[in-house]
Amino acid sequence: MAATESYIEGAPPGAFAPQRGTRPMSRLTTVLGATGLLGGAICQRLTAAGRPVRALVRPTSDPARRQRLERLGVDLWPGDLKEPPSLRAVCQGAQAVISTATCMLSRQAGDSIQSVDLEGQRALIEAARSAGVEHFVFISFVPLQERFPLQEAKRVVEQELMRSGIPCHTILRSGFFTEVWLGPALGFDPENARARIYGTGLGRLNWISFEDVAKFAVGALEHPRARNTILELGGEEALSQLEMVRLLEGLDGRDWVLDRIPEQVLRSRFKEATEPRQQSFAALVLNVARGCLTDPGPALQAIPIQLTRVSDPARWARRNDDARKEG
Ligand SMILES: NC(=O)c1ccc[n+]([C@@H]2O[C@H](COP(=O)([O-])OP(=O)(O)OC[C@H]3O[C@@H](n4cnc5c(N)ncnc54)[C@H](OP(=O)(O)O)[C@@H]3O)[C@@H](O)[C@H]2O)c1
Repeated sequence: MAATESYIEGAPPGAFAPQRGTRPMSRLTTVLGATGLLGGAICQRLTAAGRPVRALVRPTSDPARRQRLERLGVDLWPGDLKEPPSLRAVCQGAQAVISTATCMLSRQAGDSIQSVDLEGQRALIEAARSAGVEHFVFISFVPLQERFPLQEAKRVVEQELMRSGIPCHTILRSGFFTEVWLGPALGFDPENARARIYGTGLGRLNWISFEDVAKFAVGALEHPRARNTILELGGEEALSQLEMVRLLEGLDGRDWVLDRIPEQVLRSRFKEATEPRQQSFAALVLNVARGCLTDPGPALQAIPIQLTRVSDPARWARRNDDARKEG
């Protein structure tokens, strides 16, 4: 198969040969999803901590993101979650695997919740088990309302990981990322004092920075209480969309323009969606509209980190500066 051959070509010699009994290279961590938001931050923290890092990267991944990983000293291995031989190769010799990968924002041919988030992650668990990986960290999300394909895939993969026979697993069920859901791509735009408000805007959420999720993921490899457990992640402050708007209005002195989408409209979008990714996105938006509370206490006890405060004025000032520079 042409696609597989190109992976073999790019992999170090012998990478695809079964190497049972190979001793894991000291602390080598393989990251899946490294060209994404969270995976990139995890690679940055792992390399800063002096861990050798290997990442599975697709030929189609954003070149700028690949280069950033190379500059960090990450060893890039070609592959795809839909190509099991590449997963076996990238797991060989690794002590730990961290998987953040998801197809939700991907537009590559053949990517779907079924092929990537479900079958791809299952194949990765099997590859990690047969390669003798000691610790597998899987990024999932907190239990959400409604049945939808992405949530079903995450729960199946969690179950398989727990039963896999890999000596140690950590399942990190995160809440909603601040930078994504309170960011311009989803209509929350501090630079232009404008926000899309999903539902009434009154439901509270424990928004969490992806940087904090990265701290938890890396910390999971070190802290004994993070072994063989499920940890729910969220920020310590629970604030509604409207509370966030009021807070930022207070900081920049402008009245924001609000574009409201009633919950009823969001519910119809969810019910009418037929494509699994579209339906999953609609379900996620509905959960933001209703609010979603998470207690980060147990996770902080297992992995003590300093959480970012979503209300911290400095973080929003920094973000506006960054947006102006990019603009
Ligand atoms: N956003 C949130 O609020 C939130 C909340 C809770 C949990 N999470 C979870 O957090 C995780 C990370 O999210 P993120 O925002 O970092 O995602 P992201 O930026 O969209 O990154 C997704 C990564 O997955 C990779 N990927 C997709 N399809 C692949 C395939 N077929 N083979 C190999 N790699 C593939 C992408 O590679 P390419 O660059 O090649 O496409 C990319 O590196 C996800 O599991 C998500 O479910 C997110």
